[in-house]
Order: sequence, then structure tokens, then C-alpha cells
Amino acid sequence: MKIDFHSHILPGIDDGAKTLEESVQLAIAMGNWGFERITCTPHITKQYRNTPQTIEPVFRQLQEALASIEGAPEIAMSAEYRLNPETWPEVLEKGWLMPIEDRYILMEFPINDPGDIGWLKPVEEFRKVIALGLTPILPHPERYFYLSHDELMKYVDEGVMIQSNYGSFAGLYGPEAQANAERVLEEGIVSFLATDMHNMKYIRTIGSWLDKGNSLWDSVPRFVRNQKH
Ligand SMILES: [Fe+2]
Repeated sequence: MKIDFHSHILPGIDDGAKTLEESVQLAIAMGNWGFERITCTPHITKQYRNTPQTIEPVFRQLQEALASIEGAPEIAMSAEYRLNPETWPEVLEKGWLMPIEDRYILMEFPINDPGDIGWLKPVEEFRKVIALGLTPILPHPERYFYLSHDELMKYVDEGVMIQSNYGSFAGLYGPEAQANAERVLEEGIVSFLATDMHNMKYIRTIGSWLDKGNSLWDSVPRFVRNQKH
């Protein structure tokens, strides 16, 4: 099954889709690319204080809307958990982890300001998740410009899996993210690619990258292998 497990297509609860109409539009466009299942991973950050209780009703709403559309992809529910002191400790304490495919947890870092991670020590937090029998996935390392290569390799050695964004290769986040993405891919530490879908700009940018002869499936052989786990 072709799964995209990182997306912000649920309407109105983070910086992704704004309306149900937009959510449906994004899901259909992704279905046209070949995705059969889209995991919805709204942010849980100090800015977007989502919980399973805020996510579930919106998820059901989108699920219902897609059910009436022939050939629409199915959706699954999870979240993108940011390492920040305002939300992450509460997530663990209250048992709010919703694993992707019963196994993976997306654990993102702050994009611009590394200080937002506060007193949290990434390796310790990754270990807590591994101790629960789950596998942490660090999304889009190419976008954390402050993150050193050694630091990233330390996480990989801990058992953290790496996911890059299709959009990074398509230039969606600028030349530095693109160069970083190509480098980590070259190094062979990327296990997954995902859309990190937020809005129609993502559809257009990744779409024109595909039009240039790139493929969602063949560009990263390891990704395809891992999808079949
Ligand atoms: Fe994301």
C-alpha cells in the first residue's frame, strides 16, 4: 500500500488546510499521485495545542467527506509531536501518542529557533519513545539548519529513523534545504519520504517536480522497501 504518513490536511487545527473543502482538494490531489492512505499528522506544539480530543472530530469529518468520493484515498490519524516543554511532556504523561501504522512517532524539532526545545534533551526523549516499543521518526532534518551532521548521526545511532520531504527536493523550502536533503539522501540515512502536505502550493511545487520526470516511488529505493514493512 502506498502511504503518505506526514500531512497537515485536517482543516483548521494547525497551519495546514484551512477549510474542509481545501482538505478534500488536497487529499484528492494526493490520491491522483497514487497515495492510497494518508496519515493526518497535525502539529502538537506550543502554538497548536492539539490533543487526540481536538484531532478526532475533525478527522471523522474529513473521513466522512472522503467516503462519498469514488477512489479517494483513505485517511489515518496521528500527529506530529514537537519537542518543546510546553506540550511534549504532557503528551507522554497523558498517553497522547497515536502511532503511525501502530509503530512510528513523528518527533519534530523547532524549525527556526533551537531554543524552543528548552530543557528537553532529544536523545532522552527518543529513548522514552523507544522504551514504549515505538520507533521515533525525525522529520525533515534538512530543514533544521542549526542541526549539525554529528548530532543527526547520534540520533540515527540511537535508532531514530529519518524522513525527508518531497518538497525539499522540489525546492519548496529554498536552496539550502534542497542541498541538505540531497546530502542526507546521498548518505543513505533517509528511510522515508513524505509530503508534509500543508496547502495547494505543495501540490503545485511537488507536482511540477514530478512533471520534470521525478517519481514519488523510484527516487528513493530504500523508502519503497521500508514502506512494505
Ligand atoms: Fe509537518
